[in-house]
Amino acid sequence: MSQHHEHREHREHREHQAHSSHDHHSHGHGAHAHGGHGSVVHAPSGTATEDYQRAYEQAEPEPGGTVVRVEVEAREADWEFASGRTTRVWAFNGQVPGPFIDARVGDVLEVRLTNRLPEPTTLHWHGLRLPAAMDGTDMVQHPIPPGETFTYRFKLLDAGTFWYHTHSNEPVQLERGLYGALVVRASGEPELDRERVLVLSDVKLDARGQVAASDDRERRGGREGNVRLVNGISEPELMMWGGQVERWRIINAASSRYVRLTIGRRPFRVLGTGGGMLEATTITRDVLLTPGDRIDVVVGPFEPGEVISVLSEPYDRGLGERSAEQFATVRVGPAAPSRATELERPRAIERLVERGTAPTREVTFSERTDVHGDVTFLINGEQHYRADPVTVGELQVWDIVNASSIDHPFHLHGFFFQVLERNGTPPAYRSWEDTVNVPAGGRIRIAWIADDRPGEWMFHCHILEHHAGGMMAHFAVVRPDNDNGASRQSAG
Ligand code: C2O
Ligand code: CU
Repeated sequence: MSQHHEHREHREHREHQAHSSHDHHSHGHGAHAHGGHGSVVHAPSGTATEDYQRAYEQAEPEPGGTVVRVEVEAREADWEFASGRTTRVWAFNGQVPGPFIDARVGDVLEVRLTNRLPEPTTLHWHGLRLPAAMDGTDMVQHPIPPGETFTYRFKLLDAGTFWYHTHSNEPVQLERGLYGALVVRASGEPELDRERVLVLSDVKLDARGQVAASDDRERRGGREGNVRLVNGISEPELMMWGGQVERWRIINAASSRYVRLTIGRRPFRVLGTGGGMLEATTITRDVLLTPGDRIDVVVGPFEPGEVISVLSEPYDRGLGERSAEQFATVRVGPAAPSRATELERPRAIERLVERGTAPTREVTFSERTDVHGDVTFLINGEQHYRADPVTVGELQVWDIVNASSIDHPFHLHGFFFQVLERNGTPPAYRSWEDTVNVPAGGRIRIAWIADDRPGEWMFHCHILEHHAGGMMAHFAVVRPDNDNGASRQSAG
């Protein structure tokens, strides 16, 4: 990329910002409820434009790194989920999922998103530790109106399997196709025979093969599709060579469907989770992937001629158990040599706290049904809850309590946490996570520490109907001395 090009990009970006700063004066300012509890008006603060500008300018690659530039256009498109039938979708660059982004730790990712949809949109970078201003929520930016362009630019700090998705009108926009995979690589990763990135999702199609209108009854459990997808294709076949060992990075991008993943009910090895590599790989036969969650596994070797089903096994998330569901079929071809190397200890994960540490905060998920049978989704008794600020560097030990009768996947934006306990029992392995299932009636204890990225953040249930229905909370990360880089104000 030439210097000249770099300059031009930058100028366009300034023009866009000039525009949104004007926007701010006209209606954004003062709309933001700061401090204390209570519901929150979703609008960026008065300093959002400067915060964005600073984050943009500070994003420089590490020595040896590069700027990975991606142009995306969100627009309507025709897509074949299954051959012979076309569905009108909303997609990035006309494809479901959107373009696969492949980068390395220390690179800067710069994504210019142009909105050609009939409604505003934003992009959220699920699982990434980025500046708040680049998080893509309506607390840090104005949604991008139709016809406009917005540039996300940030440095990639962690290796792992991530994804990006719309953070506007999610129940509609995400199901229609506005999501994609992002892999960040580090040096010294295991060498397997092949890597696949499998984005699991679902879509509800009507008799004409179009995305079905939403139904009020879908609000409680969340909408589940009648077509199950892997990389935008209904129940595809995957070809593998006999005797080979592959790395599969699996993302659950579905609106609300839980996937209790098995690969032919064979044992497989878990390399990493949402927050990257584990300390030591672990062997299992199934793993629960809630919406938003990822897993990084080693698959195979299989015998030539084997046919293996990639399934979601029965799991009851409080709505009754369903039978096993097919996502894909693996067909194993003739034997081929394997060059897969032995897995070393992937990385050390330092324990944040000892077990038994008292929680510093409780977060309660609940639902309420009114006399008309309408359900609302709540955090600490409120929709769109305003949670207490979190101070940079201060240990957080949170109990996430599920006071409802269905499971809810808890997702924290921008920071990784360690799960200390699930219903009082320590998990099988230590890991970094950004999404964790909170079972119906259950309690999950997590620990995390905010690194120095002050700003507006959120956590929410990743069942999109619940999130949209208010099962979410906003909070500020603040510096201990209240010097937030001339950034967050606390007056409301
Ligand atoms: Cu993938 Cu606000 O989430
Ligand atoms: Cu939920």
